[in-house]
Amino acid sequence: MPAIVIIGAQWGDEGKGKATDLLGSRIDYVVKFNGGNNAGHTVVIGNQKYALHLLPSGILTPGVTPVIGNGVVVDIEVLFDELDALIARGVDVSKLRVSANAHLITHYHRTLDKVTERFLGSRSIGTTGRGIGPAYADKINRVGLRVQDLFDENILRQKVEAALDQKNHLLVKIYNRRAISADEVVETLLSYAERLRPMVADTALELHHALEAGKNVLFEAGQATMLDVDHGTYPFVTSSSATAGGASTGSGIGPGQISRVVGIVKAYTTRVGAGPFPTELFDASGEFLRSQGFEFGTTTGRPRRCGWYDAPIARYSARINGVTDFVLTKLDVLTGLETIPVCVAYEVDGVRFDEMPVSQSDFHHAKPIYEEFPGWSDDITGARSFDDLPVAAQNYVLAIEKISGSRISVIGVGPGRDEVVVRHDLLGDW
Ligand code: GDP
Ligand code: IMO
Ligand code: MG
Repeated sequence: MPAIVIIGAQWGDEGKGKATDLLGSRIDYVVKFNGGNNAGHTVVIGNQKYALHLLPSGILTPGVTPVIGNGVVVDIEVLFDELDALIARGVDVSKLRVSANAHLITHYHRTLDKVTERFLGSRSIGTTGRGIGPAYADKINRVGLRVQDLFDENILRQKVEAALDQKNHLLVKIYNRRAISADEVVETLLSYAERLRPMVADTALELHHALEAGKNVLFEAGQATMLDVDHGTYPFVTSSSATAGGASTGSGIGPGQISRVVGIVKAYTTRVGAGPFPTELFDASGEFLRSQGFEFGTTTGRPRRCGWYDAPIARYSARINGVTDFVLTKLDVLTGLETIPVCVAYEVDGVRFDEMPVSQSDFHHAKPIYEEFPGWSDDITGARSFDDLPVAAQNYVLAIEKISGSRISVIGVGPGRDEVVVRHDLLGDW
């Protein structure tokens, strides 16, 4: 079985970590290909809960080789904190491979992320403050630092000095902050170099060999389609390619090797940070979803904005990513609602839009057009087959499957690893 990609089909936190974990034991490699420690994936195994940020969720499955691809931005201090925390809990992290071409997040990226957000005031993005945007900006600007630079002190020093020459002017003269010392940045980075060295590899070559040998390689996106720098609600996005195409550029495998694209969607919608969100709820229903779904950020702890399921967004994601299967998560959270509204289209200034409007201004003003479906009250967390679900829950799933652009192959009915209903095997023949 060749490559399979898991992507978020909404604004993140759909349950990508759980979906990866679900496939874990049948996977040989799990590759993170975009983003950095802005991600937060919660995985629940038995009574143990793990929160992963920079590392791919597959690291929790024994035998899996976790890979940090070239498309990732690596905060090396966070990397070792996260590794140490897992080691302390008995997780074997010895197989981790890190691309020599991945870019580094340093002290100055984190500082710039925070000060630029503050400077933007009411126009801020609500970033996670982890230095993601500034690190990708340096990459595109060709002044970034790469993992391989850690092993050539001269080059590293030159690059840090060149970057800080300009950034210190910004920090001091525009943002009224203290200048950052190049020596300190270099020293910090070098202090991790030897520990990192054995993990660093030509990961594109290793993945190529793995695919040639018929291994199962899973690509796990951070963030989501609507946060993708090209296809999301720009500028309220993250700075990387979180869509399926990013799996290719962010890891160095050819797009033709991807045979399956699994989109993760929640049975409702959430968003963290600023930006348009047509189905957002400001009433008791939003509070219901937040408290029942425990919708608080894994990375920043911020309460997530909550709203009803948005089918035009699911269809858009299905198209942009070439989704072959959806995993519908958190269906259990809707239990207890009398009726469940689903957004089937938008209305903008009296005009109906069945698909995402091309203009961002229109999307900002889009009002959801809802269809209502009957709810159910029976606990569904014990359901393990589609027939175990109450008829109203089955109908809800079938109704949104019809309008979401791809089949729903797996349904999440609780946070635990086993709390799923599998309708089609994600690794089976298509
Ligand atoms: P990710 O960023 O896409 O990996 O998602 P997060 O981990 O940030 O957020 C998803 C949350 O939903 C986590 O706390 C999961 O444990 C939880 N979760 C995933 N699937 C389900 C489900 O089917 N039901 C419930 N109740 N919780 C789920
Ligand atoms: P996972 O992988 C939800 C949001 C931030 C902010 C915007 C830009 O757990 O789904 P950044 O720090 O990336 O520059 O912030 O993107 N954001 C996420 N929202 N889940 C995430 O990751 C996110 N990663 C970034 O809230 O609005
Ligand atoms: Mg998350």
